[in-house]
Amino acid sequence: MKFDTIPSLTLPKIGFGTWKIGGGSFPDPKVDTVSTAALHSAIKVGYTHFDTAEMYAAGHAEELLGQAVASSQIKREAFFITSKVMPAHLEYDQVIQSCEKSLQRLQTEYIDLYLIHWPASDMKLVETFRALNKLVKDGKVKHLGVSNFNLKLLKQSQQLSETPIVTNQVPYSLNDRSYVKNGMLEYCQQNDIFFTAYSPVDEGKLRSTKTLEEIAKAHHVTSYQIVLAWVISHPRIITIPMSANPSHIQENFEAAEIELTKTELDMLEKLA
Ligand SMILES: NC(=O)c1ccc[n+]([C@@H]2O[C@H](COP(=O)([O-])OP(=O)(O)OC[C@H]3O[C@@H](n4cnc5c(N)ncnc54)[C@H](OP(=O)(O)O)[C@@H]3O)[C@@H](O)[C@H]2O)c1
Repeated sequence: MKFDTIPSLTLPKIGFGTWKIGGGSFPDPKVDTVSTAALHSAIKVGYTHFDTAEMYAAGHAEELLGQAVASSQIKREAFFITSKVMPAHLEYDQVIQSCEKSLQRLQTEYIDLYLIHWPASDMKLVETFRALNKLVKDGKVKHLGVSNFNLKLLKQSQQLSETPIVTNQVPYSLNDRSYVKNGMLEYCQQNDIFFTAYSPVDEGKLRSTKTLEEIAKAHHVTSYQIVLAWVISHPRIITIPMSANPSHIQENFEAAEIELTKTELDMLEKLA
């Protein structure tokens, strides 16, 4: 695995997403077996960064992740767990309560990285950060970040947070470069903030092209792996693909090792 570093943190370039683990918007017992197997498989392959949220399967993704980590017999400190507070819970007391519930579901005493999942139109960021700063002071959260924030809100968050904002988690794939075009990537790179790319393989709907297939063939890997290698090729970009398929879970992890040439990167950049 390759890693990337900002002054306060080093993270693996590729982590594991958990949207659809344990269900979609609500828990779905029918997918528990597959979801648990996927988490065990990811831990076995060597993923250490797991991305979840109170919103995923209404908390059930956190529950299954907590169970998988607890039963892995690997010490808690070896994992890096990101979770998120939802936009409907951004008042002071709600943030504190949401975090407590996430800690219980995750069976842990601390969350490594806690994000505001989405901005809410009526949020009072001062109050939200008063709660987030308290969670850090109390040792319940190690690092703070945001998700789906524009530059103005990210800069406000940096002013209000008593510890560095370590990430903005945003969509980024061959099909979606909106947060590059709006200057977010450049700002993150210049200000020591991880740009965490979500939905890096377009939620599994990757559009195959001749260029992609030719580059994949030259490296004896799949088009999905090439896209992941391209996503993480820039400094400060890390990513968190999700998969419930053990072969894909392994392939995605190994994609971090692919070395694309300058010519290949230029060709992929043109596809984007
Ligand atoms: N902050 C936010 O607002 C936000 C929003 C969306 C997502 N996220 C986070 O980012 C994570 C990733 O995003 P995502 O789940 O939306 O989309 P994604 O990772 O781009 O795509 C996941 C889909 O791609 C398929 N897939 C993955 N690897 C593959 C491979 N090697 N070959 C073929 N198919 C593959 C999976 O199917 P199989 O199961 O069949 O492999 C799954 O259906 C989420 O799980 C979540 O943790 C955050």
